[in-house]
Order: sequence, then structure tokens, then C-alpha cells
Amino acid sequence: PEPGWTDTVDVVVIGSGIAGLTAALRARELGSVLVVTKDVVASGSTQWAQGGIAAALSPEDSPEDHLNDTLVAGAGLSDPEAVRVLVTEGPEAVRDLIDLGAVFDTGAGGGLSLTREGGHHRNRIAHAGGDATGAEIERALVAAVKRAPDIRIIEHALVLDLLLSDDGAVAGVTLHVMGEGQLDGVGAIRSRAVILASGGLGQLYAATTNPSVSTGDGMALALRAGAKVRDLEFIQFHPTVLWLGKGAKGQQPLVSEAVRGEGAFLVDHEGKRFMQGQHELADLAPRDVVAKAIMRQMLASGKDHMFLDARGFGDEKWRVRFPTILASCRSHGIDPVHELIPVAPACHYSSGGVWTDLHGQTSVPGLYACGEVACTGVHGANRLASNSLLEGLVFARRIAASLAEHLPVLREPAPDHRVPGLVAADVVPELQRVMTVGAGVIRSAGGLSEAGDRLAKLIEQPAEQPGTPDWEATNLATVASALIEAATTREESRGSHWREDHPDRDDEHWSGSLDLTLPAEDD
Ligand code: SIN
Repeated sequence: PEPGWTDTVDVVVIGSGIAGLTAALRARELGSVLVVTKDVVASGSTQWAQGGIAAALSPEDSPEDHLNDTLVAGAGLSDPEAVRVLVTEGPEAVRDLIDLGAVFDTGAGGGLSLTREGGHHRNRIAHAGGDATGAEIERALVAAVKRAPDIRIIEHALVLDLLLSDDGAVAGVTLHVMGEGQLDGVGAIRSRAVILASGGLGQLYAATTNPSVSTGDGMALALRAGAKVRDLEFIQFHPTVLWLGKGAKGQQPLVSEAVRGEGAFLVDHEGKRFMQGQHELADLAPRDVVAKAIMRQMLASGKDHMFLDARGFGDEKWRVRFPTILASCRSHGIDPVHELIPVAPACHYSSGGVWTDLHGQTSVPGLYACGEVACTGVHGANRLASNSLLEGLVFARRIAASLAEHLPVLREPAPDHRVPGLVAADVVPELQRVMTVGAGVIRSAGGLSEAGDRLAKLIEQPAEQPGTPDWEATNLATVASALIEAATTREESRGSHWREDHPDRDDEHWSGSLDLTLPAEDD
């Protein structure tokens, strides 16, 4: 659609979680900053993060140990340089977050209380409010942004596409604002740089821990602008999501890995533990190992969930350490103090995304990416628990530092002749079913090919009433196609990508990352 209004700023930040708000707070010294967010500011994934934020903050830990655990989880595809940046800059970034006002839980001596999650050999997960870490970080960042009146925020605004100059560099964005007075409707913001911090794509699947806003918008618009995406096949399924019964859909309550970190364990329907002997860390193995073990138990027994036993915590530990999970279990009729918690894996995190260098620069000049939408190389084939908040924080800071060295010039947008073929909004439930069955935890060439065919038919159905909701459906379809392509290409099993027709890791043929770009559209 033709923009009805135009505005100009120096930097546009798309998204308002830990990555977007950190980038905005740090970039405001460089010029005018506008944050655009699809819902209200705190509606993204950050506020749902339970377990915490990982960093080598204790004297018994070291960045080197954190690096080793991250590389092991990444199953050979993490970029060691990116991981080194994460683990060495991480502790200071967390301390700065504390200085900014985020209040983390402390132990008896007043120092930070640090716990463990899957794949970590040290206690290094800082947490807040017991199991409400993301909510506290988001609260502190929103408060800091409110204290910085020079940062403009537009809520309820869906970014449609990037504006590009003749030479393919970023010149701004087009967006659809729903109800912001003068800035109502479709408009264009011209800018010198765009920072994508728009989060993940969990809504590609029928069951996910992600909120409804996680529809892969940033990845889709980056693809349409010709950006390179990497490691898209590595979708992480969280092993323990509260099982809400057959046919439950949409966002599902997470049962943090920290529950196992504090001693809970998985059992089958006979009450038998099944993680011992599968991995040296047993119930605290990296999450792909645990998710696959649960899936195997489910397939072998014909059941649609397994159980987590945390009855040993007792009432007080549940109330103090895991108040969010306790409330969520009880609201679904389960009392984890006395009962087993039914759990199953669900889509949780996209380890890949829009490729960036170590400074958050994508392959499109002027476009930067951080947080879940980005692929910095940190996570490789499988993200280590609680590294995501840290990655968003560290790389958002790096982008601001890099823009301070070099803020691109304002470019003239070239006329955009692309005609978006919008996908109908009502295909989304079927798209989610297709992705869950064909491109979910267990994949095969046959299943992926069927998913690809089914998706192609869904995309062909024309939208009857093109409008804002259909952009989300279009974005989901764009990302789904790219993901199926990546998952089909990688004929091996590695990290969170599990091909039952190629069950082994194959370092001879697949030791590198897969990059994808969309073919350029003809005018
Ligand atoms: C959790 O608390 O289990 C989630 C942590 C994460 O996804 O990093």
C-alpha cells in the first residue's frame, strides 16, 4: 500500500524486548531513535523468560567454562569468536543491567543467587522474582526508556517492509500504525539505520512457548530485502512445557529448566526415571537431548506427554523459588507440590535467523539485527539455556557501539515496485498444523516434502480482504518455506534438527552452516 505519511529519524528499532530496548537506550546518544512495536511495549518474548540470564558471575566459574558449555550445546556450528564475545562481555552487561535497575535474586550472603539449567556445568544462571526473570528485566528496561523522553515509541505498529535505496542499502521502513492519531494507517519512516529486534517465530507451530506476536516478521522482511539468513533449520523445542490436554493450541505455559536445575526429574507413566544413562548430565542434559528423549518415550508408549516430578521441593520452595510456575500449574488444576506435572516439548526458540557479523551488521548495508531474530553464530545448532537474554543484551550494545563509530548516511528510497502477494489470514491454523507434523521435532525427507507441497497450496489461496492481519500470515508463510528448505537440505541430525531418515551427525558433509536468500523479484 502507498504510504499516507512520511517521517524521518536517525535510527529505527523494530521490537521492544531486551534487545530492542537495550539498542534504543544505547543508540539515543547518536541521534533520534524511534522504537516501533507491534503490540504494547512489554508484549514480546522477553517478559515470558523464566529461568534467567547466563553469565560467568561467580568466582567458581569463568568465561572459558561458559564458552565450552555453549560450544558443546551448539554441536559444532557455533562461531567460537561470537561465543567468546558473548561470554567475555556478558558479565559486565549483566552488571550494567543491575545498575540500570533490574533486581535479581540474591543468596544468604547478599551475592547473586545463581542456578543451573540443561547443559551448564556451573551455577551461572542469574534469576529474578524466582522464575520471573524476563518480566523483571523488561520492567527495568521499560522504566529506563520512560526516563529517556528523547526515545519515541510507536505501539500497535506492524512494520511491513524495508525501504531500500537504488544500491540496495536501507533507507527506512514502511509500517501500518493502528490508532496513533496523526500517524494512523500506512506510513513510511526514513532512517539512516534500522535495527531488527523483532524476536522469534514460535507461531509457526501449533504449540509454542512464544506469545502471539512471534510471527517471524523480522526474518520475513529481511528475506524480502535480500538479506542472508542462516541456521534456520535449528528450531529449539523446549522439553518441558505444561501439557494442557489433546488439541491445546497457541502459547503454552513453560516449566523452566531451572525446575530440573533445582533437582526435579522426568518420569514416564509408570513413574520410572528415563534420563539416567542417556547423558552424563541426566535430567540436565542439553535441551535437544532431553526433548528427543521425551519424544522417544512418547512414541514408544503411545502417550502424548511424560511427567516432571518436583514433589520433593515441598510447599515453601515452590512458593519462593517458582511462584509463576506454581500459579500456572494450579490454574490448570495441577498441584505440583503433591502431583506430577504433565509435560511435553513445544516450539521455543529459533537458534538461527538473519545472519550478522560480530557487530550485528546484516548482509544489507544499514540493517542490523539482534536478539532472537538474528543469527550471530552464538547458538549454532542448539542454543544453551539462558543464553538468549544474554545474546540480545550483548549484541544490542555492540550494534550501538558500531553505529557510534559509523552512522550510515540518510539514503533516498528507490521506488518499490514489489507487489506483496498477501496470504490469507485464515490459513494460519493449517500452516501451524503442517509445520508441526512435517517440520517439527521429528523430520524426514517425506514429511518435509509433504509439508512443502501443502504449504505451497496454502500460499496460493488468495487473501479475500488484504489488510494488516494478512501481513502476519504472509510473514509466517515466507519463513515456513525457508525453514522447510533448510531442513530438507540438511540430511543429517545435529543439535535440535532431528531427521529420522538421517539419524546420525555427519561431520564429513554437514559441518558448516546453511545460508539462504530469497531470489530477487523481477520488477
Ligand atoms: C527455561 O527457563 O527453561 C527457559 C530458559 C531458556 O529458554 O533459555
